[in-house]
Amino acid sequence: MNPALRKTVIAGNWKMHKTPAEAKALLGELLPLVKDAACQVIVCVPFVDLPAALEAAAGTCVAVGAQNCHWETSGAFTGEISPAMLTSMGVSHVILGHSERRTYFGETDQTVNRRLRAALQAGLCPIVCVGESLEQRQQGITQEFVSMQVKIALQGVSREELRRVTFAYEPIWAIGTGRTATAEQAGEVCAGIRATLAALYGKECAQGTTIQYGGSMNAGNAAELLAQEDVDGGLIGGASLKAPDFAAIVAAAR
Ligand code: PGA
Repeated sequence: MNPALRKTVIAGNWKMHKTPAEAKALLGELLPLVKDAACQVIVCVPFVDLPAALEAAAGTCVAVGAQNCHWETSGAFTGEISPAMLTSMGVSHVILGHSERRTYFGETDQTVNRRLRAALQAGLCPIVCVGESLEQRQQGITQEFVSMQVKIALQGVSREELRRVTFAYEPIWAIGTGRTATAEQAGEVCAGIRATLAALYGKECAQGTTIQYGGSMNAGNAAELLAQEDVDGGLIGGASLKAPDFAAIVAAAR
């Protein structure tokens, strides 16, 4: 990370965990532990937990995000939530293109692009996830594949809008597997994403963009990953569900 150039952001991705009552309890435990955070802290919670999380986090340094949103403002899209619905509640952030959505729910680079443009238009700050499969890594196409994901996601996104976008490099083989990318692997791909951004928007914009690492990040490996110049934070799944573990990662981001 390089706090002189860009924000360091530690975000929790709760996935499909915690009822509203459990969300309130987890935040009650977490908030005192991260009150002196030196980085930005976000919790991305299930849709039904948003009211409880927003209430608990009000007036604190912790921002609340959702884990997906649709590209239309309203309409016949059963089961979907629009960006305007999120902003109307006071939600500031949204995860887009998580590999679980790509794998299980038919998300493509094109739908990620549509969601990203709509989220930006509504005023949200999106966290866009990219990352290769194990097979792609073994084939030696990681950088090309991730660069393509970044380029398609950003079609039609202006330089001004890019300021609100965070990227999360999440190698699929490292998510929820306990198998973390080495700090060097994480640093290398995050640097590659920055190079892609520089080619699209210029060096200055690229240097100002936060690029997180995600995939089995925990209290034990966070400091080493964050020591990489181009790793500007983390998107944390499993370890974000335990307040002391998540707080330890936040503390490592100094
Ligand atoms: P993990 O998940 O930390 O449990 O590997 C990360 C993510 O999916 O964002």
